[in-house]
Amino acid sequence: MKKIIAVDGPAGAGKSTVSKICASRLGYTYIDTGAMYRAVALKVLQSGETLDENLISDIGIKLDETGKIFLDGADVTKEIRTPEVSRGASDVAKFGFVRKKLTELQRDMAKRGKVIMDGRDIGTQVLPNADLKIFLTATVDERARRRFEELKTKNFAADFDQIKKDIALRDKQDSEREIAPLAQASDAILLDSTNLSIEQVVEKILELAR
Ligand code: CDP
Repeated sequence: MKKIIAVDGPAGAGKSTVSKICASRLGYTYIDTGAMYRAVALKVLQSGETLDENLISDIGIKLDETGKIFLDGADVTKEIRTPEVSRGASDVAKFGFVRKKLTELQRDMAKRGKVIMDGRDIGTQVLPNADLKIFLTATVDERARRRFEELKTKNFAADFDQIKKDIALRDKQDSEREIAPLAQASDAILLDSTNLSIEQVVEKILELAR
């Protein structure tokens, strides 16, 4: 069984949904690195302070086993999912000192093995020696549709065209940034989930993990 699994891909490809299910079926820990970038963005938005190394150096980010995320001790699981924080996360993710800090935390979390970590740069930068690397994609329309449904379920106001625009902008920003851009690792397996159900994607990943 592969001990360290890296799942990368653009916004709304289904990374977190399928990674969570795979982790629970394998008895592995799921680590949502996007939630960590979101927590940094929320800290900047809430504090009104400038993003600098000082603000990041002693930031308290914790993910618990139930999928909750804590920022400096406060449960921010719901707050980090707003479109404003999504945009903010992609903005803070450009900075080398932010990536360095979060990459250290992420490597530390993966140390004990039996983890599935998802993000943008896991296979390329954070865990280049992962036993299995997946690059999960879907068309921008399908990803926007999924995010629209997700936001509606969570009772956030959602506008399809705006979501699609936001996703396309974030794809561009994430793929074109200088440091650790969104990219498929040369040894990653490409999975296009456009026409696959969640269960079909889960099955494929579990098959590859065995
Ligand atoms: O859930 P969604 O796919 O919309 O995004 P996310 O995984 O929560 O990530 C939010 C943002 O954080 C992304 O748009 C990236 O800019 C950034 N991110 C990153 O740069 N590196 C990672 N390993 C994970 C997220």
